[in-house]
Parts: sequence; structure tokens; C-alpha cells
Amino acid sequence: MKNINKLIKEDKEIAFWIQKEAKRQKEGLEMIPSENYVSETVLEAMGSILTNKYSEGYPKKRYYGGNEFIDEIELIAQERAKNLFNVEHVNVQPYSGSPANLAVYLATCQPGDTVMGLDLTHGGHLTHGWKVSATGIFYHSVLYHVSQDNGKINFDELEKLVSQNKPKLIWVGATAYVYEFPFKELAAIADNVGAYLAADIAHVAGLVVAGAHISPAKFAHIITTTIHKTLRGPRGAMIMVTKKGIEKDPQLGDKIDKAIFPGLQGGPHDHTTAAIAVALKEAAKPSFKKYGKQIVKNAKALAKELIKYNFKLVGNGTQNHMILVDLTPFFGPGGGYFAQYALDEAGITLNKNTIPGEPSSPFYPSGVRLGTPALTTRGLKEKDMAKIAKWIFEVLNSVKNYHLPDKKEERKKYMDDFKKEVHKNVKLKKIRQEIKKFTSKFPIFAW
Ligand SMILES: Cc1ncc(COP(=O)(O)O)c(C=O)c1O
Repeated sequence: MKNINKLIKEDKEIAFWIQKEAKRQKEGLEMIPSENYVSETVLEAMGSILTNKYSEGYPKKRYYGGNEFIDEIELIAQERAKNLFNVEHVNVQPYSGSPANLAVYLATCQPGDTVMGLDLTHGGHLTHGWKVSATGIFYHSVLYHVSQDNGKINFDELEKLVSQNKPKLIWVGATAYVYEFPFKELAAIADNVGAYLAADIAHVAGLVVAGAHISPAKFAHIITTTIHKTLRGPRGAMIMVTKKGIEKDPQLGDKIDKAIFPGLQGGPHDHTTAAIAVALKEAAKPSFKKYGKQIVKNAKALAKELIKYNFKLVGNGTQNHMILVDLTPFFGPGGGYFAQYALDEAGITLNKNTIPGEPSSPFYPSGVRLGTPALTTRGLKEKDMAKIAKWIFEVLNSVKNYHLPDKKEERKKYMDDFKKEVHKNVKLKKIRQEIKKFTSKFPIFAW
């Protein structure tokens, strides 16, 4: 692991847990599709003295002194993003993906305006207008859905909802979706009613850069992305305005900037800005194109292997970096919880997830979501996916007799008993050891 010797000396308690987490990340199979391993250079920029600085405002227009070097860093980050994503205007200051998305509302809508996004239980993100998010509380949000049979956006419903509700802003993008995003089709629908189209490419940004996913640059007015998923940078986000966005609204770049600061945030995290710039330089290298393409190859190979074990996959496979498994044949409704817990115990980290037409609830969903970005960073290839599918099958098979109790009051005790059984499960312990041996062949490059 990266040297934390001083921390070990000065704050044993925190150092201890960091070391534990490092070991977990190293020994297990990290399959949460929104996670990745950053490079040593990204980590160095993140851990730099830039964290000491206050820089409210934008390059050359700051509210604090001493920003002449920070300005250069932020300008470089902006330029790199513009070149990489082929856009006109970039804001690299959002603290993360959620504030970036909220800023888009602030820039384009008035409170109470109608907005549209994909329903959370159908794969959309909280910030696309879900009821408990500020985006669903302060704006009138109308949600669209995927078809239950194949998990694809239901265009019949979407077109009807758009023409009935005339939204001001439409989101395309998702947190759990196994197809390429239909940017072109959404653009035609949004243009028809004069709505802003915002593409949230948080999940697929790295694939877009690698040419492994269609780019929204020609179709959307605004693009938001996190930096820490397939783009393999620090936790942070960007908002980009396309040529089409500037043509629709020449002030759009300014409006986005004002929405971030002073609208929502104070001082930018300059150490993150530097790390974003570093990650964008890495993403511009030919090796990153190979990486992005390999992520998709690995996900497709894994989907094929899982199908051999009769797993039911949403969409029967994947076009991107992630796979959604419908576990109702294994556990009945609500089995994602059992799967996540047992797999975690065996050293495979993924997350429970709703499936289209979810018969249970978001806390006890009926599926799991898994992906290949982090494994691909470690150098795993298609041939390795067969082993992983086999482990997943063996783990789930060893806990398949558990079923979510219908009565809510019975669930806590049932889950506590389930967890105790899982901790005692010898099969899972054996698989964990096998995985530890396997992952030791794939060093994490930052360490
Ligand atoms: C599509 C999408 N947008 C936005 C976000 C929000 O990002 P953050 O967690 O950095 O706020 C996520 C995070 O999972 C996401 O998947």
C-alpha cells in the first residue's frame, strides 16, 4: 500500500482501519460497477498540499488571493476535459455527481418546473427526480420507465409523457442500465418540446472516452459525469456544455458556473481539481482506449459465463460495463440482500439492486448489480470471468434456501440468523481463500 508511515505513528486508530480497507480492496474481487482503483499519480495529486487553499470563484476571477497557481491547474483540467469530450464549456468544481446534477436544475429550471428522468427503481439515479431527493422535492418530476421484459427504456411511454407534460429538462443516463444510452433518440424527443437534454454519463464516461460507448456530445445540451467510476479518477464531478447547448442557450455555460458557485457550493476542492486533471491526461492515452474496450469485453464474457449457470440477466447480457442479475429464481423476491452479504463474505463485492418491475423494495431488492471496471484495471481478461462466474454460482448455491420473510417484523431476526450462518459457512471461507490466492496475481498499480 502507499506509504502511510507517519499516520501509523501519529494516529494508529485511523491508520489501522485504512490498512484493513487496503487489504480488503487488494484481496477481494471488487465488482461494484461504480468503483475503480486510481493510479498512484492521481493519489499523489489528491494527497497534495492543494488541500490547504481557498479558491472561491473561477480562474482569474477569485474571491481570495494567492490563486495564481491554482488558476493554472483549473484551466488545464478544463482544457483536458474539453478536448477529451469534445465540448465547449466545462466546470470541474462540483464536489461530486449529486451536486453536479442539482446544479443543472438550478441553471435550467425554476422551482416547480417539470423535469423528467428514469425512475430510480428502473435504474435511474436519485438525482434524476426521485421523490426523496431535493430534485424530486423542489421540482415537479415525472418519471419514465424501462420495459419489464427486456429492461430497455420504454419509448412509447416516454414519448407520451413528454408530450403530455412538456418538461423543461430531461435526463438520459442511469445507475443501473445494461444497454448503450439512446442519446440520439432522446435528443429528438427533447428537441420536439424544446426541453434541455442532460446526459448523465457518470457510469460510462470512461467507455465514452475509449470509444466503447456512443458519445452524447452531439445530442445533449449538457453532460454531467462523476470522475471516479469508469473514468478512473478521484471522487469528483464535471458539468459540460456542448456546442448544441451553447446554440440553444448562449448563456448556458455561465448559468452552470453560477449554479455551482455561488448557487450551491463554496470553495472548490483544489486537490481534487488537480487529480481530475491528472486522470484526464491518463484517459487521453491510447492505453486507456484499450482499457475501456476491455471493460466491455470482460463484462460480456462474464455475462455469458453467468448464463451458463442459468442466471437470469436483465436484457440477457450487457452492452456496457455492468450486469444486472434477477435473483428471483434463486431466492424469490428480495434476495439481493442475501446474495450481497454472502458474496461479501466470500470476497466478492457487488451491490444488491432493484430489477425492472421490482416485486420487493429498494432495501430488499430482488437482484444484484455487478461490473468489471475495477477488475479490468487490475488486468483481468475474458478468460478469468469463467472462474468468477463459478465462484458466484457456488456462493449463491450455498445460501439459496433463504427467502425474505413476508412479515416485516420477522425480517430482522431472520437476517441476524442468516448472517450468523454465513459467518460459519465453510464453503464461503474456502472460496475466500481461493479468491485471495487468485487476486494476488493481479497487483493494484497504485500500490
Ligand atoms: C448516474 C449517476 N449519476 C450521479 C451519481 C452521483 O454521484 P455521487 O455519488 O458522486 O454524488 C451516481 C452515483 O452513483 C450515478 O450513478
